[in-house]
Amino acid sequence: MSDKPQTNPLREGLASRPMPQPCTVVIFGATGDLTHRKLIPALYNIAADGDLPSALTVVGFARRDKTDEQFRGELEEAAKKFSRQTVQDELWQSFANRIYYHRSEFGDDDGYKRLAERLKQIDAERGTRGNRLFYLSVAPTEFEGILEKLKQFGLNKTIEGSWARVIVEKPFGTDLPSAQELNRVVSATFPERDTFRIDHFLGKETAQNIMVLRFANAIFEPLWNHRYIDHVQITASETLGVEGRGPYYESSGALRDMVQNHLLQLLCLVAMEPPTDLSADSVRDEKVKVVRSLRPITGDDVGINVVRGQYSAGAINGKNVKGYREEERVDPKSMTETYVALKLNVDNWRWADVPFYVRVGKRLPKSGTEIAVTFKGAPEVLFNKAVTDVGNNVLVIRIQPDEGISLRMQAKIPGAALRIEPVKMDFHYGTSFGKASPEAYERLLLDAMSGDATLFARRDEVEQAWRFIDAIEDAWHKSQKPPALFEYAAGSWGPKEADELLERDGHTWRRL
Ligand code: BG6
Repeated sequence: MSDKPQTNPLREGLASRPMPQPCTVVIFGATGDLTHRKLIPALYNIAADGDLPSALTVVGFARRDKTDEQFRGELEEAAKKFSRQTVQDELWQSFANRIYYHRSEFGDDDGYKRLAERLKQIDAERGTRGNRLFYLSVAPTEFEGILEKLKQFGLNKTIEGSWARVIVEKPFGTDLPSAQELNRVVSATFPERDTFRIDHFLGKETAQNIMVLRFANAIFEPLWNHRYIDHVQITASETLGVEGRGPYYESSGALRDMVQNHLLQLLCLVAMEPPTDLSADSVRDEKVKVVRSLRPITGDDVGINVVRGQYSAGAINGKNVKGYREEERVDPKSMTETYVALKLNVDNWRWADVPFYVRVGKRLPKSGTEIAVTFKGAPEVLFNKAVTDVGNNVLVIRIQPDEGISLRMQAKIPGAALRIEPVKMDFHYGTSFGKASPEAYERLLLDAMSGDATLFARRDEVEQAWRFIDAIEDAWHKSQKPPALFEYAAGSWGPKEADELLERDGHTWRRL
């Protein structure tokens, strides 16, 4: 492996726009859902925006028998269905001509030997300069075998001036020991700087905007602490159920599926200190400090600060839906949580005594992800004394849908009487910038091609997050007297115990 710095100097950290070098993207598990729904549509959209180097080539590595033509045909169908922009025939043709299919078992020596030859040939014919991006879109049980083969056939080694990187999809382990083991396995083949652990929430435009909001504006940062902030709520609500992913979800549950990664990442962006610069490691250094400052929730505290729930039959948008235990390939006696609400504390100087309430759930009435920062109330003099119910200021960062930011403040209702009502200052991405935000995978693929790991999870972040999550999982699954799993009807806002979690502190969950 070359010791030369592998990042493009024009594209360091969050500082400038992507300038990827030509490369070959090798997707392991290329016949899977992710390739069709996300990866190929994302690459097509990058191409449509003119940001994809013309030499970029894709090789789909999978077990099924298929010709290049068949593979391209299937991907075209998928792109038409899932692409953000309309697929244009001419552009698709020129994009599809750079896609190849490579049939092989994941453990077959001959398959990797042929892959190595094919990559060399692509370099010579297309000018991909020996740059390789391996995308592991396979079950974690396959990681080790594939990585070992890449090493055995020298595919992790690069010629002078080129690079080889790996993108690893979630789930990144199911607990701390398995994540550590995975990290060990990956690091035996690729150094940390070439390892990109994907968390697609970090690629969402509004998630990236949290840092801009906080550190490019002078008015928020002075207020961004325990003196002025009362509490923070982070919600990720989905109307969807488990959508045929029963076996995966059964071994995961909402806490591992969403909190360990996506929601803790959002919390870190809200709570972190300003990084010293915008490089990947400076940003991630600050995020990992937040996870390290999370007050551990262990033993009996789990029943007090964490509420878990599972949906029963109900109705979403007027349509009857099954309960979780009736879903396909789900244990009829399953104890897997599809909802979780937590009260968290970040034990550092900035956030002392500011609760962070986090909730996530499937089969809730509405889909939406948002962060709501509630400021402390104005002193109880003047208007706050004369008028009851003067609400607090709330800054809401809408991650999706309708990405944007709003600030709730108090205003006088016109007229002779003194009546005060909350009004909103509202910024919508759609109307302010007049164009759709790129999909998370577009940004993240471009970043990985450019060697920028800022929006990817670092080894220590992942492990620290598991440390925090494992204590809760242990209390649920290993203790003598595990806290209850509460039922909620599909289409409701979760178990009432989750409301009580906030009511105890004099708060209520925001309605999305
Ligand atoms: C995935 C989870 O990581 O994120 C899914 O495995 C969840 O269960 C999904 O539905 C939510 O992502 P998004 O981008 O659709 O909000």
